[in-house]
Amino acid sequence: MDIVGKIVSGDFSGIIIRQKTGIDVELGELLVTRECNDYFIMQVFDVSYGSQIPERIRSLAAGLKLEEESNLSFLENELSNFILIILKPILFVSRNKYHLPKRLPKFFAAVERINEEDLKFLEKPNTPLYFGQIRSGSRILNIDVFLNGEDVLTHHMLISASTGKGKSNLVKVLTYNLLNESYAGLLIIDPHDEYYGRTKKGLKDHPNAISKIVYYSINPPPGANTLILDLRTIKPWHLTGIVPLTEAQIECIYLFYNRDKENWIENIVLAEKDDNVSIVTLDVLKRKFNNIFGISLENGQLSFRNNLFSNTSGSTTIKNVVEYLEKGKTVILDTSKLGGEVELMIGGIFAEGVFSKYRDLSFKGHLNEKPCISIIIEEAPRVLGKDVLDKGINIFGTIAREGRKFRIGLVAITQLPSLIPKEILANMNTKIIMGTEMSNERSALIDSSPQDISEESRNIASLDIGEALLTSTFSKIAIPLKVPDFGKIIKTNEKIIKDKTVIRGVDLE
Ligand SMILES: Nc1ncnc2c1ncn2[C@@H]1O[C@H](COP(=O)(O)OP(=O)(O)OP(=O)(O)O)[C@@H](O)[C@H]1O
Ligand SMILES: [Mg+2]
Repeated sequence: MDIVGKIVSGDFSGIIIRQKTGIDVELGELLVTRECNDYFIMQVFDVSYGSQIPERIRSLAAGLKLEEESNLSFLENELSNFILIILKPILFVSRNKYHLPKRLPKFFAAVERINEEDLKFLEKPNTPLYFGQIRSGSRILNIDVFLNGEDVLTHHMLISASTGKGKSNLVKVLTYNLLNESYAGLLIIDPHDEYYGRTKKGLKDHPNAISKIVYYSINPPPGANTLILDLRTIKPWHLTGIVPLTEAQIECIYLFYNRDKENWIENIVLAEKDDNVSIVTLDVLKRKFNNIFGISLENGQLSFRNNLFSNTSGSTTIKNVVEYLEKGKTVILDTSKLGGEVELMIGGIFAEGVFSKYRDLSFKGHLNEKPCISIIIEEAPRVLGKDVLDKGINIFGTIAREGRKFRIGLVAITQLPSLIPKEILANMNTKIIMGTEMSNERSALIDSSPQDISEESRNIASLDIGEALLTSTFSKIAIPLKVPDFGKIIKTNEKIIKDKTVIRGVDLE
């Protein structure tokens, strides 16, 4: 038994224990107190000094010790001076069943450090989503954390941390493990081209990569798909809420779209004038289309500046991506070479494609035969920010609000959750909070968290790289996590695969 202290006072908002001399306890650490076969799990949220000696005398004695040679041994007396640890009771476990505590543990009860056995009641769900291992302070316990992936993914997830705290690493770990499952299709919009692993290790190194991953890029490596879209597959609503447009420009776009649903972009670029549209509006739209689609008129001919849009190929790209997702594949879009607006529009086009398809399937009653879909978006306030959504709803806002009904969810990654409207933040039913120094960002997370984590602010500020707090409506408690290093997972798996090959080689001989 690793006793760290005894309960001396407190209430439901904080149980106070006196720490045993010579023991170190960290903020965030998990402790237990036992009653026969049952036990309470508690978490450290504050530490303070305690003393039997009145404050005035302590100050005087410290002064005497500092300024003069004196032998005031009572100052170092461990019985009179001690550390107090303040704990929050988080779970009561009785015969492998656990619930939120409704009473306090016994007065003067001994408190111990938690061990792996105490968390064995956590089960692996049918559609598992792996997050990492349980962390007690900075000690990592050999207990894997899974939540029900179907629930978590369709009810939206937020991954939030300051820069460099491990958001991308976590997404790699989540998506890598999902390649073992068939219950979800993933659309990863990757503005840094970091997930596929074109130049380093990445998702492409998973044993199921060949059958599960589809990679699109405007400059694809051998075997990957070219990201190219036929302009005729672009619809006016792909632009709204992503590209800033005035009322007059939107009216013009719909006017041309209603006249010719396929060639409306080309027709705007080709139009010299139109009786129903001012020449200024037409000119501005032509300039915008030049910026976005790279299309312009040169010597009376349509010219395409980049390889992303075309009027001769890419007519099935959207359809193909939607079909891959419907089959539970992971589609990675390398948008690293595209400008901000274009990148978001491309992501939005595919998101819209899969959303319409799933809404259709829902009306026809076939939705449950399909895997759920998760759309992963970096720097989410670019599409879910208050300032963006105030100007007009876009497809990501629509999915955040009603995607759940059609089994489509977002994984929004951000350093600045405070920029996302409260109502959308509250709709993200699972939040993985990693190290966050800025207090207003912490408040935005704490205020919208499914669990009461109001005492965790200091813990969240001091989380190290890869350490996280997982709060979810699909978990009874906020779980302290350590996310594994993706590089190490890959190395271990490669070793396992290599060893198996060798063993099989020996078998064959
Ligand atoms: N769980 C972890 N264990 C060990 N190292 C990690 C872990 N998570 C991240 N790292 C390392 O920390 C560095 C930053 O991680 P990462 O790129 O995931 O951060 P980020 O939050 O996505 O940063 P940014 O905001 O810049 O996108 C990387 O070098 C990564 O290898
Ligand atoms: Mg990152």
